[in-house]
Amino acid sequence: MKKISLTGIKPTGDLHIGNYFGAIKPALELTKEYDARYFIADYHALNTMRDPKGLNSTIRQVAAGWLASGLDPEKVIFYRQSSIPEVFELATMLMAFTAKGLMNRAHAYKAAIQENNEKGDDTDAGINMGLFTYPILMAADIIIFDSDIVPVGKDQVQHIEMAQDIAQSINANYGQQVLKIPQAGVQEDSAVIPGLDGRKMSKSYNNVIPLFVPEKTLRKTIMRITTNSQSVEEPKDPDTSQIFQLYKLFADAAEQEALAGRYRAGGMGWGDAKEELFQVVNRCLTPIRERYDTIMADIPALDKILEQGAEKARPIAAATVKRFRKAAGID
Ligand code: TRP
Repeated sequence: MKKISLTGIKPTGDLHIGNYFGAIKPALELTKEYDARYFIADYHALNTMRDPKGLNSTIRQVAAGWLASGLDPEKVIFYRQSSIPEVFELATMLMAFTAKGLMNRAHAYKAAIQENNEKGDDTDAGINMGLFTYPILMAADIIIFDSDIVPVGKDQVQHIEMAQDIAQSINANYGQQVLKIPQAGVQEDSAVIPGLDGRKMSKSYNNVIPLFVPEKTLRKTIMRITTNSQSVEEPKDPDTSQIFQLYKLFADAAEQEALAGRYRAGGMGWGDAKEELFQVVNRCLTPIRERYDTIMADIPALDKILEQGAEKARPIAAATVKRFRKAAGID
């Protein structure tokens, strides 16, 4: 039997090419080797997103973005966290076994407290219980599907360790393997995708190239990439150009070599380099954008896909809760 992988997707913000190469593509590779499950973590988003319209449409945009990028709902299980009530039942059960001190040590919570203290605010200002108990809900997300491996970035490793701690103390208490202990599949730092200003592409830097914008907007965005003041004639070093770093993500080896040659020869201005970049980005994104637009034009069909995923997921979730309840004497 194949091992089970689980990927949680936070429904926040518009997807950009940093997400695509840093998260979506590597996560979709898992389908080859694992019995892969993917879910939209919409109750997690409730901690910070209070605008109902915004949250409602972000959930669909992110789901459509993953489908358009190649997630095949026939081959994997793709669902919304909020469609699986057993996740929240399990979270309550896990809470009984989670030391408050463990939550006190969570990085995100500690950072929020530290920020308050530095500002001279009340220690707990603006911190809700959703943030404080985030690692428990995340543990429930993972444990409920008997996940073997959870691919995460380094910032999420602590959460997986907490899930392990909680599950282990439950198994130890009942003297049997009630819950499977998950492992973190730490993604080695994949190449940093540079943004428009050369810093890491990130929504918080406002330097992103969005995935699903019309061609015109895409060109305009690419033309905004900052460059140095080298003249057209001057030879340029492709290896230090963020335009070329981006180009490499989209172009084949022969194209890369050809363009690197033009950089080094001189006579090519930054405007031309950006136009070359636009051409290859647009070539790659056009089919994805078309699929995205088609999916977004029929939200009921999209919801149906997610609902069908939830139907596949719920029996698995229910079985885990049942096992735990039986072990605990609540059956
Ligand atoms: N915390 C993850 C993030 O910030 C999202 C997430 C929620 C998740 N539940 C999960 C990831 C379960 C993996 C498994 O990106």
